[in-house]
This record gives sequence, C-alpha cells and structure tokens, in this order.
Amino acid sequence: MALNQIGLNSISASSLTNDSLIWPGIERLQLACLGMILLDMETISPVEDHLFTPRETARAVRMGPRRRRGFTAARVALKRLARQLNLAEEDRPDQAIETLGPDGARPCLGESGIYCSVSHCARLVAAVAHRYPIGVDLEMVSEKPIRTRHLFMSPRERDLISLSGLGPERAATRAWTIKEAAAKALGLHLFQAIREVEVVRLGEEEGVMRYQEKTYPARHAEGNGHVITLITFDDV
Ligand SMILES: CC(C)(COP(=O)(O)OP(=O)(O)OC[C@H]1O[C@@H](n2cnc3c(N)ncnc32)[C@H](O)[C@@H]1OP(=O)(O)O)[C@@H](O)C(=O)NCCC(=O)NCCS
Repeated sequence: MALNQIGLNSISASSLTNDSLIWPGIERLQLACLGMILLDMETISPVEDHLFTPRETARAVRMGPRRRRGFTAARVALKRLARQLNLAEEDRPDQAIETLGPDGARPCLGESGIYCSVSHCARLVAAVAHRYPIGVDLEMVSEKPIRTRHLFMSPRERDLISLSGLGPERAATRAWTIKEAAAKALGLHLFQAIREVEVVRLGEEEGVMRYQEKTYPARHAEGNGHVITLITFDDV
C-alpha cells in the first residue's frame, strides 16, 4: 500500500492522484482546513533523540511502547505540518519545534497560535491545522462502535444509523469519530461531548452535528478500512 504522505492544500491535485484513489473525499477535508498531514507509520522511522523537545521527551519516557509509538508519530506529523505551513524557520531543528501544548495533553504547532489537532490509530496518523478550532479523528471501521452505540449515541442518533444507508459499521464509526473530533475541537471532555454534541445526520462524505443550537458539517474520508473525520468551528 503506497500511502506515504498526503500533503497540504498547497500541493497540486495531480500529486494526490494515487493517494486520492485510496482516500476518496480527502481533498474536501484538505480544502476545509489550512493544512493536513496523513502518514502511514510504517513509512516513518523517527530518531527520537533528534525529534523531541525536552518537554516531549519528558512525556514520552513515561509511556509504554504502543502509546509511545503513536505519540512519536503524532510529533512527526505535527512538526511536518508546522514546516509546511512555514510556522518554523527552515533551519530550525525538530527538537526546537514544540508540539505539546502548555497543558501537556493538547497538541500545538510551535508558538504559532494556529489551531491544530492530531489522531492516531495502530497504523496511521493524521494532523490538521486551521485558523479556527479544529478536531480530527481517525478510526478503523469496525463493529466496536455498533456494539457500544448505546454508550455514546442517544436513541434519536441511533435511528440515524439505518437512515444513513451506509451499513451499521460505517455509520456508527462515523458517529463515534464526530464525537471525538468535536471533543478535541471544543476542548470538551469526551463524556461531555457525548452528551452535548448531537449527531443530526450521518452521511458517507458529510454528516451534520449540533452543539449549543448551531449545526456544523462533519467531513469524512474513508480509505484502507479507516475513516478520517474533520470538524471545524469557523464561526464559534
Ligand atoms: C482526547 C481523546 C478524545 C483522544 O482520543 P483517542 O481516540 O484516545 O486518541 P486519538 O489518537 O484520536 O487522539 C489522541 C490525541 O488527541 C490529543 N488530545 C489529547 N487530549 C486532548 C484534548 N483535551 N483536546 C484536544 N486534543 C487532545 C493529543 O494530541 C493526543 O495525541 P498525543 O497524546 O499522542 O499527542 C480522549 O483521549 C479524551 O477525551 N481524553 C480526555 C479524557 C477522557 O475524556 N476520557 C474518557 C475516555 S472514554
């Protein structure tokens, strides 16, 4: 599978041809934000000594191998994103680009103040940036969200699964990613997002969510058995 790096808005559509076949709909996500990096972890071999800032190192040393792999891949994606958006000088080393926010949990792109979000699963990592609050979530399509739908979807939201025509797994996975991406963008605890963010439509490439009386699009791309969901709050 030749999923290397899907670049930013600035990369021409022609350079996306192969990856676009694997990820139908990804261009719509890229156009909705300032920048996006999507990486297959198997194609990156970061040298942690040359990658981490002191704060990132302090965080990584407390992690087990699996968690650390995702954390490291997230750092690679975020630092590449910062460079592609010219948020870091060309000669600035990776160890001097901070991607761990002041709270030690949320991501950041150096000192830029540009909003960003990151998500990783066993194989892939996605990082996105925007001028407004943004959240991304990446999940493998599986039966888990359908099995646990009663834990994160109201009865009304669960009715949307059959209405979507997507099949239960693809629909419930999208619903889950909407809640996670919204939690990240809004800075909500996941449990709070589950309660307060309502999914009002589920669709293949675009769904709709409601938060505090306003509705927002949830954009999806699906490829390689995974769904990426992007939510931006352009006028929050
Ligand atoms: C943030 C959260 C939604 C991440 O979901 P996940 O599916 O486990 O992991 P993802 O790969 O999609 O996202 C992880 C990234 O989210 C980012 N993140 C963590 N906390 C965040 C927050 N409060 N707001 C925005 N982004 C956050 C981090 O960059 C993290 O990656 P990193 O630590 O490797 O840099 C989830 O861990 C969460 O809500 N945590 C808060 C505690 C909580 O709600 N717990 C209940 C879980 S049921």
